Formats: sequence, C-alpha cells, structure tokens
Amino acid sequence: MAMEIPPAEDIALEEDAVLREKIYHEAAAQFEKKFQFQPLPANTPLPPLDTLYSGPPYTVPALEEQKRRLNEVKNRLNDFEISDWHQHTRKRSSLLPILNELRYRIRAEFVTQAFAKLYECVSAYELIDGQQQELYSVHLCEAPGAFVTGLNHYIRLHCAPRTKWAWFACTLNPHYEGNCPGNMIPDDRFILHTLGSWCFGADGTGDIMVRENRDAIIKRSQRFPTVHLVTADGSIDCLNVPEEQEERVAKLHLAETVLALSVLSPGQHFVLKMFTLFEHSSVSLLFLLNHCFDELHVFKPCTSKPGNSEVYIVAKHYRQPNGIEQYLDQIYTNLQDEARAIFNRTTIPDTFLEQLRTCTTQFVQWQTDVIESNIRFYRTSDPLEDQRLALFKQTILEIFFTQYHITPIRNNHRIVHRAKVSEGLNINQKESRGTFNERTQLAAAADASVTETLRSLCDRLDHLTLTRQLFHPQATLNDPLQEGDPDNGFAPVQHRLFFAIGKPIERVKSSKFALITCIRLLNDTVDLVRRVVKEQEIPFPQGEPITVAGNTVTISIASYPSIADNIAQHEKQLFRTIVHTVLELIGQNYVDNLPVAAYDPIELVVQNWLPLTQVSVGLLYLLKQCVFEEVEQSSPTRLVFRRLRKSALTSLVGMHDAVLKAYTRASSLPGPAKSVLAIVPIKVLLCGSFQYALLNYNNALCLFYCARLLEELQRHLNVD
Ligand SMILES: C[S@@+](CC[C@H](N)C(=O)[O-])C[C@H]1O[C@@H](n2cnc3c(N)ncnc32)[C@H](O)[C@@H]1O
Repeated sequence: MAMEIPPAEDIALEEDAVLREKIYHEAAAQFEKKFQFQPLPANTPLPPLDTLYSGPPYTVPALEEQKRRLNEVKNRLNDFEISDWHQHTRKRSSLLPILNELRYRIRAEFVTQAFAKLYECVSAYELIDGQQQELYSVHLCEAPGAFVTGLNHYIRLHCAPRTKWAWFACTLNPHYEGNCPGNMIPDDRFILHTLGSWCFGADGTGDIMVRENRDAIIKRSQRFPTVHLVTADGSIDCLNVPEEQEERVAKLHLAETVLALSVLSPGQHFVLKMFTLFEHSSVSLLFLLNHCFDELHVFKPCTSKPGNSEVYIVAKHYRQPNGIEQYLDQIYTNLQDEARAIFNRTTIPDTFLEQLRTCTTQFVQWQTDVIESNIRFYRTSDPLEDQRLALFKQTILEIFFTQYHITPIRNNHRIVHRAKVSEGLNINQKESRGTFNERTQLAAAADASVTETLRSLCDRLDHLTLTRQLFHPQATLNDPLQEGDPDNGFAPVQHRLFFAIGKPIERVKSSKFALITCIRLLNDTVDLVRRVVKEQEIPFPQGEPITVAGNTVTISIASYPSIADNIAQHEKQLFRTIVHTVLELIGQNYVDNLPVAAYDPIELVVQNWLPLTQVSVGLLYLLKQCVFEEVEQSSPTRLVFRRLRKSALTSLVGMHDAVLKAYTRASSLPGPAKSVLAIVPIKVLLCGSFQYALLNYNNALCLFYCARLLEELQRHLNVD
C-alpha cells in the first residue's frame, strides 16, 4: 500500500514542534545540573583526629583522568583574545535576559549574577524555612553583597511579612588599602550603606585566613541565637593560572568551611562555592562535609556560566558531630600545610571516591559540551544556530521565572532605603585584555630584563596618560559641606573623628581614592627601581622623605620607593609634620593674644602629597574642614590650604592629641601589630564632589610619580 505523504506545511509544523520540544528539554536540563552524595548513617565517625595530616598529598587516577579531559578542552581556548571570547560567550549565554528581567521587571535590589545564583540555590534546595519567625544568616567572602540582597528577596517572598531577619557578612575589606585588588572585589556600593553589618575582623583586612579574624567572626556570630544559613562564595583571580585554580583556592575554601562549621547551628544549612573537584584537598573537604551533614549536594545553577567550573556545594542539616571543634581547629592551624593531605588517603573509602568520580565525570561532560559548542560557533555566522539560540534563551527565561516564582517585593522591603545601590559609583571595574598566551608571554618578558620591563612600564604610563578619564571634571576639593553638617559647616573636630585600627598598611595596593590601574603601575615602577638598585648596585637619589621649608611641606618623589613598603609609618610622620608646621605658623603669627584669624594670611602648602589611604585622606579632610576654610589644587603637585578658621588652634591640638592617642592605643593592643587605619568615617570621605576631585588629583599625581621615577631610571640605565 502506498504511504500517504503529509503536506509540506505539516512537515514544517511537525519539525518545528520537534525542535521546540528538543530545545525545551535542553533548557530544562540546565536546571538539573545536580549530584547528591549518599548520606552516611547518623553518627558515622570521622577518621581519628591523630590520622589527620599524617599522609602525603595524593592523586586519584580516576579524577586525574577527568582533569586531563577538561584541561584538554580548556587549552583550546588559550589563543583566543579574552575580551573577544568573553563577548562571544556572553552573547551565547542565557544569563543576560534573566538579569535584565530581574533588574527591570522585578526591580530587585542590587542584581548581579550572584543574586540569581544564590536565589537558585536557596529555591532549588529549600534552604529557608518559611515558617520561622526569626532568621539569622552569615555570609563569608561576600563583597559586593548580592547574596545578601538575593536572600532578602527570597525571604520577603517566602516568609511571613513579620519575619525578622538579621545577617552579617565578611569579606576582604575593599577599604583596606593593603588588600590586593586581584583577590578582592573593590565594589563597595552596597557595603557603604550597610557598614554595620560587615565584619572585617580584628585586623580590619577582612581576611578570613587570619586567626584573629576567624575568632572575631565566631564571636560576632554568637550575638545570634541561631545561625540558619551560612554562605561562602570566596574566590580569587586565577585568570593567568587557570589550571592552578583548584589548588589556589583550596585554602580559602577550607577556611570558609572551618568558619561555617564553627558558626552554623545544628540542623542548619551551608552553601559553598567550589570549582573543579579533582585534588586531594577537595576530596578531604567533601569527605568532611559528607560526615557533617545529612545531605550533600553539588549544584551548578543555571545562572552560573555554563562554560566554567564553578559549582555550589549545598550541605543540608548540620549534624555538628561530637568533637568537631578539634577537627576544625586542626584544619585551620594547618591551612598552609602543602606537604600533607588533611585526611590520610587510607582513611577515605573507595566508595566515596567512586561517587566523586561519577560526580566529576558528569560535571566535566556538561562543561566541555558547552565549551566545545562555544568554540564551534566562534566567529561564525549561522542563522539557524542564531534562531535556535534565541528560542533556547527564551525558554530558559520562562523556566527560570516559572520554577522560582520570583516577583517584585515592596520598596520598603529592600535592605537599603533612600538610595539605589546599583547606581552608585564603581570606579574599578575588572579589566583583562589579550589572549592567555599573550598574557603569560608578557609576564615572562617582563621578568626577563630590566630594559624590557622599563619599556613596558613606559608604554603603560603612556597608555594611562592618554586614556585618563576625569570623574566629574567640575569637582573640586573645596566641596561645600554635606547636608546635615551642623553649624553651617563647622563641627568640633572631636565630632568628626572616628578611628579604625588594624593591620598596619605596608604597601598601598588599592584605594578608594585612585584608580587601581594607576596604583598598580606605581607599584610595578617601585619594584623595578628596587630591582635596579639591588641588581646593579646603583645609588638611586633619595634624601629625606618629608622636608619643611617655611610654610611648605614637601614629600620627596625619589624617596617613594624607600617608604612604599612602610606607608603606615610614613603617614604617621606626615601627620606630625603637617600639624607641627601649622602650629608653628600660627605661633609665628600669634602676637599679643589677638585672635589667630586677625593674622591672616596663613597658608600651608603641601607638595607631592599622594593621599591614597583613609588616614591621609582623613587628614586632608580635617585640614580643610576644621583648620582652614579653603583648599586649592594650585598645580598637579601642589595643594594650598588657605584662610585659617577661628577655631584652628583648638582643632589642631584636639586632632593631634586624639590621633596620637589612637596610635598609642593601636600599638599597645595584644596580638599581631596594629596601627591606625582611619581617622574619619569612610562614608564621610566618599561623599560629594570631594571624592571625585581627589580621584582626579590622585590619578594624575600617581602617574606623575611614575613618570619621575621612570625618567630617573632611564637616566641611570642610559635608555631612551
Ligand atoms: C565572587 S566574590 C563574592 C560575591 C558575593 N557572594 C556577592 O554575592 O556579591 C568573592 C569574594 O571572595 C572574597 N575573598 C577572597 N579571599 C578572601 C579572604 N582571604 N578572606 C575574605 N574574603 C575573601 C573577595 O573579597 C570577594 O569579595
């Protein structure tokens, strides 16, 4: 019997339906990148304490095989220009439509990718009990803070309206100038509005790998009657060493886990970001969690970039095994131990490793599929694929909002009122250019010779000078006072002081008051000067770092390399010198008990002052706010303070005494050395046009420092 042939349009419709069905399944699968370890029977003991750190590091052949498979595919990306590649993968990713929807339709607070990922983890694993009247959460490695806003959104939609929720978060402090920008997220837009909810530890750095900070975080968590949820989203920049990512972040993940298990209440949950799970450190960590929780899941949220190795470990129902504190303490003490594995290989059952093999095989497969398809469509134009992709993204978007039921929340349920966090200033965006191979070659070349490094620094200086952008070009340091300042601008100096004490800043690596690219160039220049001085035994012109002549305090640029690693000390000296100079000027003018102001004009000139830290900027602020009425930047290197205030003398003396007392208090604190980190609240310094004017001034002066130092080097080395 002859077969009946359906009309062409029916075939087209049928094909379309099949395609849609296929795309729907593919899209739905993005929400199911999950693995669960088999729960261990209650009270399964951990290996004896004395077997910890008793054996050498080891590899697991089945995991090594997965690692090799993944690296093989990843290595194919090494010659792709990174910004091009990112643009290509961004275009193919389903993330942007979701984020746009969250931002513009849901109008959620401070939406970033982290917001969406956290929302997925909490929803997919029901980590918040909607019946609770009170909830408490702790967020580790949390800047810029979108896990917090994501959780708030979830709580507002899923818990009773009167549910009380309190949280605090820890992270490398974006305001601590000694923190390395590569490890930290300098975006403080949310943090500035919620400073009281952030714990930067005992030394102010926020580094959770420092014991006194760990203790401070544990102590702070004890203010909460229960801790229902701990999240830990730590990562550090491994762009140039992707194959070492797992080992580099292993210590951080262990520190996060130790802290989480120290603060979490029994029965509660923990979310931890990890990357690949091939090394013995990951084996030990997951093995520990398997013992400590009823449920242990590995989850790749649909909003996590599908081509990277990021996964979230979701550990539910903390068992808080007896004696766990000793294990945690031992692990924390040995964080830096690279010579031994936490759990001896002989104490890890093969059944556990077999589960891990299944898990990694699955996640590697998902990841390599994505990378390979991204490679296939790189720089090609395929209308069919574009059509498929558009449908795929649309389907993911629909599933996302249907599955997670995200709707808007009321404005007064946001964490920050009266300000739109996302609209704040975020000056230091991440930047990376070139291919991976180019970047490694560049690093190698820079290492190779002094002349090459010098040349590359000069090129960077030219580039930064030519592309330097001005923030609010009209801004002046003389910014009128902020709203709410009493006395039409004058408040006694004591009311303006606020001291932060912590680890003395050795080198300034980041600052809210200059672009990180400028600071990085200055530091690289300083390193080269030091290298030349050391290797070639060339005497670099130095002299006193600070000199005074009449009313002018001058900081020597040539001596910057010698003070660059002891900024805290230099600042203290500068503070003293400036205050003494002004006091002396007043003394010289002060005759017969007449008011100081009658002997105008007293001017203070400070040359080459590069105020990058909160202490320096605080001093500048106090000088302009309490001692003088006006500050003018009379040239790129000169600040002139004019028109002494009536209360200048009292302010200066008050300032001097209080600040020096704070230094004394800092140095007498027990534990690792401490110094003064701030003398005025950071929020005050980041207000109004003052901060923009300072940014512009500092960026230019930073480059001027670089130019002077590089010129000096060129002269010494006889290089053009
Ligand atoms: C990916 S971000 C976290 C994003 C965050 N969850 C959010 O939702 O916005 C990683 C964070 O790890 C933090 N971090 C890295 N090393 C750290 C350390 N040693 N101590 C504390 N925080 C650290 C960085 O400061 C950074 O803020």
